[in-house]
This record gives sequence, C-alpha cells and structure tokens, in this order.
Amino acid sequence: MKGLGVGLIGSGFMGKCHAIAWNAVGTAFPDVERPRLVHLGDADADLAARRAREFGFARGSGDWHAVVEDPEVDVVSVTAPNQFHAEMTLAALKAGKHVWCEKPMATSLADAEMMAKAARESDRIAALGYNYIQSPAIRHIGRLLDQGAIGEPNHLRIEMDEDFMADPETPFGWKHASTSGYGALDDFAVHPLSLISVLFGRVGRVICDMTKPYADRAAGDGTRRAVETYDTASTLLRLENGMAATLLVNRSAWGRKGRIAVQIFGSKGSILFDQERFNEFQLYTTSDSPAEQGYRTVLIGPAHEPYGTFVPAPGHGLGFNDLKTIECRELVARIGGDMAARLIGFEAGLEIERTVHAMARSFDEGRWIGLR
Ligand SMILES: NC(=O)c1ccc[n+]([C@@H]2O[C@H](COP(=O)([O-])OP(=O)(O)OC[C@H]3O[C@@H](n4cnc5c(N)ncnc54)[C@H](O)[C@@H]3O)[C@@H](O)[C@H]2O)c1
Repeated sequence: MKGLGVGLIGSGFMGKCHAIAWNAVGTAFPDVERPRLVHLGDADADLAARRAREFGFARGSGDWHAVVEDPEVDVVSVTAPNQFHAEMTLAALKAGKHVWCEKPMATSLADAEMMAKAARESDRIAALGYNYIQSPAIRHIGRLLDQGAIGEPNHLRIEMDEDFMADPETPFGWKHASTSGYGALDDFAVHPLSLISVLFGRVGRVICDMTKPYADRAAGDGTRRAVETYDTASTLLRLENGMAATLLVNRSAWGRKGRIAVQIFGSKGSILFDQERFNEFQLYTTSDSPAEQGYRTVLIGPAHEPYGTFVPAPGHGLGFNDLKTIECRELVARIGGDMAARLIGFEAGLEIERTVHAMARSFDEGRWIGLR
C-alpha cells in the first residue's frame, strides 16, 4: 500500500515544523505508513521550489490551489497565516483531501462554523494544530487526573507568555493586523483552551480584559501604523464541570520564551507544568507522609507514552518539533480509522473558537458571557 500523499501550504515557522513531522513520522512511529511528500505551495514560485527542495517535497508551486487540486495529494497541511485558513481548508475538503490546519481555526466565528460544517458533511478527517495536547507530560497529567491522584480538581490557572512582540521597535507584521484576528486570544489563548478541552472539558462562561502595550509600530515605508490587535488578554473562566479558572496570555512578556504554565489544584494535591520545561512536571499529593510532603519533580521517559518511540532512555528529553510528529502520527492513525487517536478535530476546534469569541465579546461588553 502506498503512503499518504502530502501537500503543504506555507513554508515558514510552522510549515517547516509540519515538514519535519511528515519526514519523521514513519521513522518515529513504526505503526504508520511512511507518507510521500508530494507538493509544497507558498506565496511565490521561487520560494515554493526552494522550500520543496529543502523540505523533501517532489514539487513546489506559487499558487496554493495547485496543491489542493493535485491528484497525488491525499492530505493538506495548512500553515499559511490565519486569514487564509478558512479558504484553504474549505477548498481542500471540497477537493476530497484530509486537512491538518494550524491554529487558530479561522479569524471569524462564521468561517470556523463553515469549516466545521464542511468537515461534518465530508468523509475526510479535519484536524487542527494543537500540538501541546500531545506532550507526554500533558497526557500523563490527564491520566493522573482520571485516577484521582490529586482528588477532585477545583481550581486551574494557566499563563501563556512569549516575548516575540515585547520590543516596541519590532515592525508591524501580519499578526498586528485585525485580519489575523484579535491578537493574543487567537495566537495564544487557543492553546491553553486546547489543554482545557482535553483535560477538563468545555468552558461555561468567561469575562476578559485585553490591552495593547504598544499603540503603533514602524511600517515599511518609514511611517508608523496603528496596532490593531491586542497583545495581552486576562480572562476569568468557569468550566462546565464547576472548576474556576484563570487564563492569562501575553505576546509582549520580556523574558518569557515559550511559557505555558499550568497549575491544577485539587482536594488531595496539585500538579504544576510549564511548556518551557516540558520534559518534566511537579506533583504534590497529600498521600505522601506529612514529614515528606512537597513537590516531586518527575522527568519524562518511556513510561510516559509516546516518549519511548523517540528515545529509549528517560530524562533525555523531547523537543517542540517532536510534539508535531506525535500529532502527525495521531492524524495518520485517525485517517486510517483509529477513532481513539488524540486530536482536536474541527468540532472541538469550533468550541475553542466559540470560547475565544465569547472572551472578545465579554471585553467589548464589559460583562460575563455564557457559552450556551
Ligand atoms: N501550533 C503552534 O504551536 C503554532 C506556532 C506558531 C504558529 N502557528 C500558526 O501557524 C500559522 C503560520 O504561522 P507561522 O509562524 O509559520 O508564519 P510564517 O509567517 O513563518 O509563515 C507563513 C508562511 O505562509 C506563506 N504564505 C503567506 N501567504 C500565502 C499564500 N497566499 N499562499 C501560500 N503561502 C502563503 C508565507 O510565505 C510563509 O511561508 C499561523 O496560523 C499560526 O497561528 C502555530
């Protein structure tokens, strides 16, 4: 049987990450048929041809439609900027391709709803790039919660921070334009919401505040252009399971490089995790003797699947791109009919979008917004 034919649209940060995953998945995961890297599309033909060579794709095109319409392509990775996600995934689904689209799903709720509808009405698999749910530590934390290791969880705090927009001299880019969405909500908050989705279920209501640390940025022509998106968002949430939660996100947080700090408090203990040190987590349980109670640091190893398919030795560590390779394995498995594969599909993705849009609405209206 021939492996899946892969198309990739966009070859920037995430395009390369997907390409590494498509190249690695057949090696890291023996249960997966090695895919064929068929067609890469980018904004111009020269760039596409160069990246196709670098990433190992058979051909490149300066028009993404050629990727979607290529009969040898079975699945399309969409890693172009946010504003193209809806148009590209709708075209790919219409052409009968499976889709693996980067987050956020879309820049408007109407587009996300249209995408979910198209996926529902097709027999194709449509998944989103929520790589952090794939982390062996996060997976194990889910098992600990299911086993009641910290009793009944009652309070959750998540902070996601990076500093790539912290410098006021960073020029205006596509992420500062409202065509990309609200800003830190679509860029960051969707990731913690994906963790909430797999660990705790749906969000019930939200109230959010947002800020723009810098009002304008240098445009290419020597003028300043007003920033249209918000770099920070601070949200109180009440989950449907009754848990109280806070979600703080900041794209202009000097010193923070890839922080997704999660604190989960329960009736018999607590769990701490931070994506900046994602090869470990901390566990505190009241079942330890009082004289020895304290946070225990657990290093990730083969006992935390699927770490062992990458490295047989514990504590040696995975990297960011490995999370994408794990996500890629789950996608290929789901395409092959494995309904247990761990993915955020377009239905769960739509729920994340509804939450983000409820946050933005609560900011506009200055009040709590219920999701249902
Ligand atoms: N899952 C994650 O952890 C994660 C991390 C970063 C970014 N992302 C998401 O990935 C997406 C891309 O972000 P990025 O950081 O890779 O951006 P980027 O700017 O590095 O890359 C975007 C790529 O798309 C190409 N492109 C632009 N317009 C195009 C068009 N019309 N047709 C074809 N190609 C086009 C660009 O030339 C570039 O190669 C965004 O939606 C972003 O939210 C996800």
